[in-house]
Amino acid sequence: MKQIPKIRVFGWMIGLVLGLSACVKPSENEIQVISGDGTDLLEIPAYFSPFYKIPNDNPLTDAGIELGRMLFYEKRLSGNNTMSCGTCHQQKFAFTDGGNQFSKGIDGTEGDLNTMSLVNLMWQNRFFWNGRSETLEIQALEPIQNPIEMHETLENAVQKLQETNLYPPKFKEAFGSEIITAENIGKAIAQFERTLISSNSKYDKYWRGEYQLTDLEALGDDLFFTHPEARIGLRGGNCGDCHLGPLTSGSSRGFDGFHNNGLDSDEKLRNGLQEVTGNYFDKGKFKAPSLRNIALTAPYMHDGRFQTLEEVLDHYNEHIQNSETLDPLIREASNEILSSEDTVKLHLTEMEKKAILAFLAMLTDEDFITDERFSDPFAE
Ligand code: HEC
Ligand code: HEC
Repeated sequence: MKQIPKIRVFGWMIGLVLGLSACVKPSENEIQVISGDGTDLLEIPAYFSPFYKIPNDNPLTDAGIELGRMLFYEKRLSGNNTMSCGTCHQQKFAFTDGGNQFSKGIDGTEGDLNTMSLVNLMWQNRFFWNGRSETLEIQALEPIQNPIEMHETLENAVQKLQETNLYPPKFKEAFGSEIITAENIGKAIAQFERTLISSNSKYDKYWRGEYQLTDLEALGDDLFFTHPEARIGLRGGNCGDCHLGPLTSGSSRGFDGFHNNGLDSDEKLRNGLQEVTGNYFDKGKFKAPSLRNIALTAPYMHDGRFQTLEEVLDHYNEHIQNSETLDPLIREASNEILSSEDTVKLHLTEMEKKAILAFLAMLTDEDFITDERFSDPFAE
């Protein structure tokens, strides 16, 4: 195995000095370790995008991450003290809820959206299926207050934590004061979430030269990232147009990562991103989520309509629904020359679909779902 040299980067210091988010370009085969107070906090593969976000006013620290982990699993943050973030975002299911189509809150009320997985969040620019939240700090406070989720006021949540012996000293360590604030709850949870890095799947090992793809996986890798061009016989599955690069997630810049991937025709199309931008041409667009650990996070799509990855592939291959805002990258993607009257179809063979499934299976990271650092600190 190759020896990988480590460089140590004081992300927070660079942030302070430049007055910018800490963005550091890695060079090939180096792993970055962002270090808060002299200890190694994060290891980032060099082949991940250098564009990640750590806000200047919330640098990572050991104490902050530790507190954030506790709060992530803290049931006192819910109205009846029965639910934490970790109830819906369970580590063993790559931080999803293990198979529910729609998430359910403390009052048993069902929402109408599927729980999103939490992974490599530092590289993402907007949160939620419709992108309404711009930072993890703000995002974290929403489920606490959401009536169909944890259904608690921030005031009560703060007070409940303040009354414990456990939390005031932990907040002091992390943020310099025993007086707990909602803002600091959000900051601590965000710090913990930034540590949820998945980078040891088979696909990562392949990137690091530690694993050789089987023929089927190699075909899947090719198809996943190739936009088909029937006229020159170039075959492709077109996935990489929206699920980008080794993170296989939507783009992290602006609203780039939001698309209408043909789930519904005009009559049934939900608003999606339009709710946030107010722009009619954003109707039906949703965040293209990271596909890391996708084998563990069924069911699929914002409304959990597909039970299996086979169904997802069938959707992309033969059931794309036309609508005004259907993504142009899907509209004109096919492995056969289509006439203008033909419905949009990818025309992959059964073998090619299998290959893409083999590729998706490579994105499962056993270390991520068993890493002690991400587990419930209150579990016996
Ligand atoms: C009742 C289940 C439930 C609970 C509890 C819950 N979530 Fe979620 N989470 C969801 C659902 C459903 C979505 C998608 C919601 C949407 O798009 O509006 C989501 C989305 C997210 C996202 C966005 C991910 C992305 O890629 O955009 C983050 C981050 C997140 N949750 C963190 C948290 C944190 C932190 C807590 C605790 C403070 C929490 N969640 C509590 C169900 C839950
Ligand atoms: C035009 C952009 C686009 C293309 C091309 C595309 N996707 Fe997607 N993908 C999305 C969006 C957007 C979503 C979320 C849609 C929603 O839930 O409304 C998504 C969702 C998914 C999901 C479900 C994720 C989850 O957490 O529920 C899977 C799996 C998936 N895509 C796989 C693929 C594969 C495999 C391909 C290639 C055959 C592909 N995608 C091509 C944009 C795209």
